[in-house]
Amino acid sequence: MEPAQSKVESSGDYKVADLSLWDWGRKELEIAEVEMPGLMECRTRYGEKKPFAGKQISGSLHMTIQTGVLIETLTAMGADVRWCSCNIYSTQDHAASAIVKAGTGNVFAWKNLSPLDYWECTLKACTWPDGSGPDSIVDDGGDMTMLILEGIKAEEKYEATGELPDDSKCVYDDEIALFQFLKMKVPENTQRFRKLAKRLIGITEETTTGVARLYQLSALNEFPWIGINVNDSVTKSKFDNVYGCRHSSVDGVLRATDVLISGKKVLICGYGDVGKGTAQAFKAQNAQVCVTEVDPICALQACMEGFRVVRMETVQHEIDIFISATGNKEIIKVANMEKMKNNAIVGNIGHFDNEIDMNGLKAYPGIQKVNIKPQTDRWVFPDGHGVIILAEGRLLNLGCATGHPSFVMSNSFTNQVMAQMSLYDPTFAGTKYENGQIYVLPKHLDEEVARLHLPALGAELTELEPEQASYIGLDGVRGPFKKGEYRY
Ligand code: NAD
Ligand code: ADE
Repeated sequence: MEPAQSKVESSGDYKVADLSLWDWGRKELEIAEVEMPGLMECRTRYGEKKPFAGKQISGSLHMTIQTGVLIETLTAMGADVRWCSCNIYSTQDHAASAIVKAGTGNVFAWKNLSPLDYWECTLKACTWPDGSGPDSIVDDGGDMTMLILEGIKAEEKYEATGELPDDSKCVYDDEIALFQFLKMKVPENTQRFRKLAKRLIGITEETTTGVARLYQLSALNEFPWIGINVNDSVTKSKFDNVYGCRHSSVDGVLRATDVLISGKKVLICGYGDVGKGTAQAFKAQNAQVCVTEVDPICALQACMEGFRVVRMETVQHEIDIFISATGNKEIIKVANMEKMKNNAIVGNIGHFDNEIDMNGLKAYPGIQKVNIKPQTDRWVFPDGHGVIILAEGRLLNLGCATGHPSFVMSNSFTNQVMAQMSLYDPTFAGTKYENGQIYVLPKHLDEEVARLHLPALGAELTELEPEQASYIGLDGVRGPFKKGEYRY
């Protein structure tokens, strides 16, 4: 039966592709809940206490089914939640609709956003109807944080000099769109960003690239809030980045192309956490996997796993599938694509779209873009050979498929909930946070996230005896079990 119109729906304070998809979204949310024991335990433990009562929480994180379960957990814990996606292609429209229909969050997201709509949705997700902003942000890649910081800078400059943001030095589409967006928005309301930053106390950042941005801002004294690095919880980066990508990297390539992977030559650029999971996935399909790396430790790890470590130029002419996973820029250049085999598949699983030189490809004299289907294009060079580009160079597992599965995301998102709780309650993480600093969650919370996920897998954890605990130098039999520097 169709539920009554929700408060969010009747307010019109949302924007999704098609609200009638809510029923499909709700059914998938219910299935996902069973696969997300960490989040469901948060609801059980804190649903009555409502630690987020009165708190406004904004999220900029792929609006998927799994994120829907996170949103509804934050709401069940008392928060007033507004949300957008952190990528133009990653929204699952049925998930977005189900949240709006249930009234559990104000969502501004749909699949295939234009870059300007992307920033409009980001702004809407951090602006409440009275013009106030969030008390805290769940960010993935740092775009919501950057919008607010760049918005404040632009307002101050406009006030002092009358000058508006200048996009002429910007290189990438999203960056150009951000500066164009601010150019429109700042004169409309010169106090907007400063007003919406007033309540903000902290940001919990999901991913490697977003965390790198936070540390850079903090080092420059340009980060005025508390930052929590969720990515470096072990139960996030050693699970989501590795096992999540092990699942969703091949999934993205297959949904886009349906190519047989077995026997093919695959090049994974970057052998960090994401690269490791991705390389394993292609190896498991019996592909011949090569790796590029700049870091000798990661290169040696790749060798130990039986991967050939090569330079791009050595193998570019013979590789069938290229995947960048570095978090760095300009990894697959147009000069490389020029020399690739006909119909080589080129994708990126890193956070931003600058790992593949899409600008170079677009500017290549005589090149033609042939759209095969949404998020799959064949770019044909004048000599007649083509390369198949996935999701326009944006992260292929969320652009061409549905990202990581629920069980993995439950680990990541339980860390997010704990990180949000630690912003409001210093006793929760046992640390008093200071503005401008970036923190990781303490080991006991990381271990707790893992503990919450073991019963669902039928794992029997051995109990340490008190004498054993003291023999190996632990404080007690319930952990923490490792020192901070242990690498897992
Ligand atoms: P990481 O730091 O563990 O690994 C990146 C690796 O790339 C490093 O080992 C580094 O040495 C290597 N590298 C850097 N520049 C290189 C170059 N020019 N050539 C070859 N190798 C190079 O980071 P990670 O956790 O693996 O994350 C990688 C990217 O994936 C980040 O942007 C992150 O935000 C993103 N990410 C995406 C997903 C997803 O679902 N798509 C999930 C998690 C993380
Ligand atoms: N990152 C990778 N996979 C994801 C998913 N399914 N939902 C949200 N963020 C993700």
